[in-house]
Amino acid sequence: MRSIVPPLSLVVLLAACGGERDETAGRAGASSDPSSSSGPPTINSEPWGVTPEGDSVNLYTLRNANGMTVRVSDLGGIVTEVLVPDRDGDLVDVVLGHDSLDAYLDGSAYFGALVGRYANRIARGRFELDGTTYELATNDGENHLHGGVRGFDRVLWDAFTVQSGPIPGSPFDVPGAGRASLILSYVSEDGEEGYPGRLDAEVTITLTNGNELKFDFEASTDVPTVVNLTHHGYWNLAGHASGSILEHELELRASRYTPVDAGLITTGELRHVEGTPFDFRTPTRIGDRIDADDEQLRFGGGYDHNFVLDDWTGDGALRLAARLRDPAGGLALEVLTTEPGLQLYSGNFLGDSAVGKGGAVYGYRTGLCLETQHFPDSPNHPGFPSTVLRPGEKYESETVYRIRTE
Ligand code: GLA
Repeated sequence: MRSIVPPLSLVVLLAACGGERDETAGRAGASSDPSSSSGPPTINSEPWGVTPEGDSVNLYTLRNANGMTVRVSDLGGIVTEVLVPDRDGDLVDVVLGHDSLDAYLDGSAYFGALVGRYANRIARGRFELDGTTYELATNDGENHLHGGVRGFDRVLWDAFTVQSGPIPGSPFDVPGAGRASLILSYVSEDGEEGYPGRLDAEVTITLTNGNELKFDFEASTDVPTVVNLTHHGYWNLAGHASGSILEHELELRASRYTPVDAGLITTGELRHVEGTPFDFRTPTRIGDRIDADDEQLRFGGGYDHNFVLDDWTGDGALRLAARLRDPAGGLALEVLTTEPGLQLYSGNFLGDSAVGKGGAVYGYRTGLCLETQHFPDSPNHPGFPSTVLRPGEKYESETVYRIRTE
């Protein structure tokens, strides 16, 4: 286990907040009263289990002034629960997951996990970089999916907690001020799952009083490599055990998407969504067209496609990518990202065998993933935004999931 220091951004935030009351930083869970209903968000930890290798795993609880509660493990950075107050103030758990560590280790759905080194598929697990061909682990037929056999979703990350915020009642105590973060770091050794270079990865998972769950990804390498990190949460704004997501309404800021072949590998084409079931430029019920007679939907068994976000320029600015609403229950989710792409996955591979939290049975299409990312298989498509990371460069990516009540 390594110990790390909080990144500069957090230190700056502390200063910007003008005098923090309960700034604490420590390995496992420093904290103030978790049931407190005002003040900055808090973070606590508890033991969660032991891996087959004998390593102890912790579960961290982040809670904000509105009662929003997020639980995250240092195993795979798995977000096991996102509890948000609905219109009536009742807490609803809006992400799919399991009850136990063992169930996550046995599963293959990537529920709530961090995904890396490369989110999504790399064709035949192979790519060329600077004249060398690299062979990656294949775990999806002949293809490489979500980092390989033992991706970032299955490794134990070093964890560090930070909480900061203004003194309640002070002039700086404005809505949204303050945050609690779990900082996870992992060193992926040269050759892990076939990837070149030692990759130092760090993911900061933050809860704010603005009901935002933020992911800040950073990485550096010692030889040229490729990187594409994401969070693989399955959302169901009516509650994780409420059934199908087909009634949810989705808006995507994307005029194009990347079509796939029958093996779900991107063809390289950027296809316009106009006149297709992939046009979510105005809010549309997911179920409206999911079973339309369309080859791409047949290949995916529904939506399992990367969308090309319209406003991306590569400047590192956060922009709105998606809005998801559950019209009946009144919860909405906004996704903001610095990434050029977003995978819409409608849970088409979920079957009745996926037993979830509290014994819930997660059938077909009962959770929806909005995975921010660079495009799938970019290492094999020079025309796509590059996923190459070279020594001396810093990989940086940020995504915010913001929950609203309507
Ligand atoms: C993704 C992929 C899907 C599927 C899920 C995991 O998001 O796009 O095809 O592999 O992960 O079940």
